[in-house]
Amino acid sequence: MNSLSTTVPSLDVQSRHGNGHQPSRPMRPLSSRLSQRVVAVPPSGIRKYFDIAATMDDVISLGIGEPDFVSPPPILQAGILSLQRGHTAYTSNSGIFELRQAVARNLHQRYGARPYDPEKEVLITVGVSEAMYLAMQAILDPGDEVIVPQPCFVSYTASVILAGGTVVDVPTYARDNFAVTPEAIRAAITPHTKALLIGFPNNPTGAIMDREGMLELARIAEEHDLIVISDEIYDRLVYGDHRHIMFAALPGMAERTIHLGGMSKDYAMTGWRVGYAVGPADLVGAMRKIHQYLIMSAPTVGQEAALAAFNDPATEEYVLQMVESYDRRRRLIVNGLNEIGLDCFEPKGAFYAFPSVARTGLNEHEFCERLLVEEHVAVIPGSAFGRGGEGHVRCAYAASVEHIEKALEGMYRFVQRHK
Ligand SMILES: Cc1ncc(COP(=O)(O)O)c(C=O)c1O
Repeated sequence: MNSLSTTVPSLDVQSRHGNGHQPSRPMRPLSSRLSQRVVAVPPSGIRKYFDIAATMDDVISLGIGEPDFVSPPPILQAGILSLQRGHTAYTSNSGIFELRQAVARNLHQRYGARPYDPEKEVLITVGVSEAMYLAMQAILDPGDEVIVPQPCFVSYTASVILAGGTVVDVPTYARDNFAVTPEAIRAAITPHTKALLIGFPNNPTGAIMDREGMLELARIAEEHDLIVISDEIYDRLVYGDHRHIMFAALPGMAERTIHLGGMSKDYAMTGWRVGYAVGPADLVGAMRKIHQYLIMSAPTVGQEAALAAFNDPATEEYVLQMVESYDRRRRLIVNGLNEIGLDCFEPKGAFYAFPSVARTGLNEHEFCERLLVEEHVAVIPGSAFGRGGEGHVRCAYAASVEHIEKALEGMYRFVQRHK
């Protein structure tokens, strides 16, 4: 007889405690079961619309902020090869060294960043999502304030709160093309301000910042000794004659900036889960310490695929084609929205349009809910992304031209009924 079957401890436990389902002590009150930090994170403002949309089978969605392309073939090949070669183990905590080198080289060549040390100043993460979380955990103590211009990507606020910090939100406005103004930042600074968190090109507005505007922010960071976290995940998705400016490449900024970037958007690699953080050795070292306990290493197959994104020259052609395709769709949707009467400033980056719905007399929540129910078109209320988003909706144009045209037709009919 197999020895395991002779000693079944669970039988013993059951005989001593009856049916084994009686709680021996009363449970603590539900209100104190969760950490206050988690309770303080606001619920997602977009869930409701996805729940309604899930009950319909013919929704035209401009709701999802994700490329509609499959990753380019050289990236797919590198991923397949990685698996076929049996590269299924962890990598170094910091990520594959060649990938760290490629990240540093890319930022240097493309944006004039200083040559970052791949050993100490580059960390490969599970997307910018993880990098953002690590950055906040690495720099914040309770009571520290982080200035967060809004509207912004939903995880910024959550990452600050989960690290015990306090969010100081600074709204941006359509009249400024959703750029951050130096006056607003100066007004938000207190003796507790530790960091400034910016994200350009911006999700949800599609706004970019010009060099002058960035230099103003750099001056403020220097004057008030702020750490700057700059999420530049959409760096390659810029249109027209705009050239992306890397914040850390501005004079004096490399030593106080944590630059976050990733593969998800530029290379259509959301599911591979690879991003990176680049910055001064002390800050990146602290992030690495957390990362090595939390994650060990980013997915190996994703890292090897990301290496091909940087190093295989054949990838570039595909990136340029994707950018051109987004740009065509950008012009289609922005012109369409303005013709319908939903005023839309020109987004110069990412893949979002952020029109005002003021013309309809509805607020952004009523607009989204009724548009979904009446026309089966899904867009996201701007206020789900924070202050400054009121009266606007986010339309992601990483959708097919046919989808965008149908969505515009639905919005046209809707606005005709509600103007
Ligand atoms: C501005 C911004 N930052 C970060 C992320 C997260 O990206 P990742 O897939 O690298 O975690 C997103 C995803 O939508 C985003 O829009």
